[in-house]
Amino acid sequence: MADLILGQTLAFHGDPFDEGPTAAHHESRGGVLVRGGRIAATGPADALRAAHPGARVHDHGEALITAGFIDAHVHYPQTAIVASWGKRLIDWLDSYTFPEEARFADPAHAAATARTYFDLALSHGTTTSCSYCTSHPASVEAYFAEAHRRGLRALGGRTAMDRNAPEELCDTAQSAYDKSRALLERWHGQGRLSYVVTPRFAPTSSRDQLAAMGALWAAHPDCLMQTHLSEQPDEIAWVAELFPEARDYLDVYERFGLIGSRAVYGHAIHLTDRERARLAEAGAAVAHCPTSNTFIGSGLCDVAGLKAEGITLGLATDTGGGSSFSMLRTMAAAYEIGQLRGTALHPAQLWWLATRGAAKALHLDAHIGNLAVGMEADLAIIDLASTPAIAQRAARAEDFWEALFPTIMMGDDRAIRDVWIAGRPGARPA
Ligand code: GUN
Ligand code: ZN
Repeated sequence: MADLILGQTLAFHGDPFDEGPTAAHHESRGGVLVRGGRIAATGPADALRAAHPGARVHDHGEALITAGFIDAHVHYPQTAIVASWGKRLIDWLDSYTFPEEARFADPAHAAATARTYFDLALSHGTTTSCSYCTSHPASVEAYFAEAHRRGLRALGGRTAMDRNAPEELCDTAQSAYDKSRALLERWHGQGRLSYVVTPRFAPTSSRDQLAAMGALWAAHPDCLMQTHLSEQPDEIAWVAELFPEARDYLDVYERFGLIGSRAVYGHAIHLTDRERARLAEAGAAVAHCPTSNTFIGSGLCDVAGLKAEGITLGLATDTGGGSSFSMLRTMAAAYEIGQLRGTALHPAQLWWLATRGAAKALHLDAHIGNLAVGMEADLAIIDLASTPAIAQRAARAEDFWEALFPTIMMGDDRAIRDVWIAGRPGARPA
């Protein structure tokens, strides 16, 4: 039997960075017909009701039906250390991150954290995550097993490190290759899951290990590769010391085959002109992590400039460096960073970055990230009046974007009324 979900709807038929808000299609009384786990039709509510009289109706009134949010870069093992005070990147890694990641040697801790993480993601309307795991294979097993159990589309990989990190988190070039390959062969393409080749970042891998990750990716070119790029000035200076032969940070990755259209670089804030041009030429993606960039004090990413140069961009929380599991809060931070850089990102651009843009960055835009026929029915139902402060502002709105923006700026998990996964409602934890 088909399900007919009614409410306001928001879909994209273009890129609002190129075309402005007309790239979006809003229906104030719309519907989404779901059959067999996919979107079978969209359109005005009345027309869909008339055409599908036998469908089970889920009427959400004035709530907004949207594609579920996609978090293009997150560290699920850092769930328990989100909002840890007072450090910048390298100190933050040493003080909080590495000690917590060491706990993932215990498969029970990994399994419990994966459960907590997906509960939090779903309660915030995030239906797909692309996560770094730790260097322990058990952390990857726990992540994919939990996503699989819930029927989620999820991406992730084992984080490779062999220097400048605690002994218990490090391996070698060869063991990183072997363990990553075994996990890739076990999980990539299982159900809705994708393995991502994941060297953490240049400072924690030797040349041999970066080369091994490049070789693994070359052997599995349909996989994504994710790493961190140009997040903080101290980190960039350290990379220049560790790799004096490289022209810049990105060149370290280029030298080891770690660039291409399926590369996803987290942050990419302090880029040279050469790096920007090379990212565009390679068709690589940047995961913009605005709450992390303000929280760890990294800097103000030039989202509008990177987009204008043709670089693929998706939005991401980067929790626990990021300070929120909410893609609404993440959109708000992207807006604030845009303001500090002199560009007010339009609500259509923010929403696109958190849905279709992130899907494009992960090469999943044929499957998720939009309300369109044939797409997998991973949906979020958003209450646009979820708190008194939001409700009173939305009530004054003169158009849809003005009604949506208070939820972007002030919304959180209270705005998420329900989540559908692969055509089934009720995935939002109570
Ligand atoms: N660079 C290398 N590792 C990390 C990490 O875990 N979080 C962030 N924000 N940056 C990193
Ligand atoms: Zn990160």
